[in-house]
Amino acid sequence: MKHILVTGSVGQIGSELTLELRKKYGNENVVAGIRKTQPTGELKDSGPYEVVDATDITQITNVVKKYNINVIYHLAAMLSAIAENNPQAGWNVGVNALYNVLEVAREFNCAVFFPSSIGAFGPTTPLDNTPQDTIQRPTTMYGVTKVTGELLCDYYFKRFGVDTRGLRYPGIISNVTLPGGGTTDYAVEIYYEAVKNKRFTCPLAKGTFLDMMYMPDAINAAINLMEADPSKLIHRNAFNVTAMSFDPEILANEIKKHIPDFIMVYEVDQTKQGIADSWPNSMDDSAAREEWGWEPQYNLTTMTLDMLKVIGEKHSRGLL
Ligand code: SER
Repeated sequence: MKHILVTGSVGQIGSELTLELRKKYGNENVVAGIRKTQPTGELKDSGPYEVVDATDITQITNVVKKYNINVIYHLAAMLSAIAENNPQAGWNVGVNALYNVLEVAREFNCAVFFPSSIGAFGPTTPLDNTPQDTIQRPTTMYGVTKVTGELLCDYYFKRFGVDTRGLRYPGIISNVTLPGGGTTDYAVEIYYEAVKNKRFTCPLAKGTFLDMMYMPDAINAAINLMEADPSKLIHRNAFNVTAMSFDPEILANEIKKHIPDFIMVYEVDQTKQGIADSWPNSMDDSAAREEWGWEPQYNLTTMTLDMLKVIGEKHSRGLL
């Protein structure tokens, strides 16, 4: 029987992942770990939640003991642009919290899921069709913490046998909880602005290609990797996964197919642009496909249809 703790459960990915895990493993078996923001709605009502600030090892230990936790999805994180504005906090949340999770996992025999990112690459990485195993010299604090996290997870598996597994996520596009302070957030905000105002000011320049994925695929990827046959996993951690690659122009044109009078203008944010320029244009995710059967369900066309439908409905019900 799996007893699961999700840290960062009110965040962009955590909020949807926690509900999916509850559907799969039973509501009472999935604890939503929160920090300051209280859960609301279904997340609050459907199962247990506890304060777990992952930078405090005692809080993780207490919850793991109380609920006999044997799997930790460590989603608590600080996104790239925010971490760049406060690199000390970026290190604390990105590395010290993961170290605490791994130490508790070692002591109490838990499996750990760790989300790395396209941010683990840097300007000297081959940026087109970026291989699974390649140069990783990121120039952001976010990237430094992600590479450190990948290495720590490998180390805890090899040295202590902790069942660590992880993905390098691209930008994640979703319609339940907004991301905050990421470089890829524009690809979420554009849909909300298109529906609400038919106009979007893009912080990244034309021609900035980045990998992206729709939330249902991001959630399936995490759960499928944690369920995968370990004997088939050559990499275990830091699998490249992607579903599509586009620049702002391509995304705006896809939206215009449904909202013809949508207008996008550019006002480049230098911090975000600098970060985006150092990240891959498109990743090679064949290791994930071969080792545990990764296959995304959504492409740009089907994702856009669904995003506009869901956000359109929220808008017409006055919920935005
Ligand atoms: N979505 C993240 C960010 O932009 C990248 O992993 O920070």
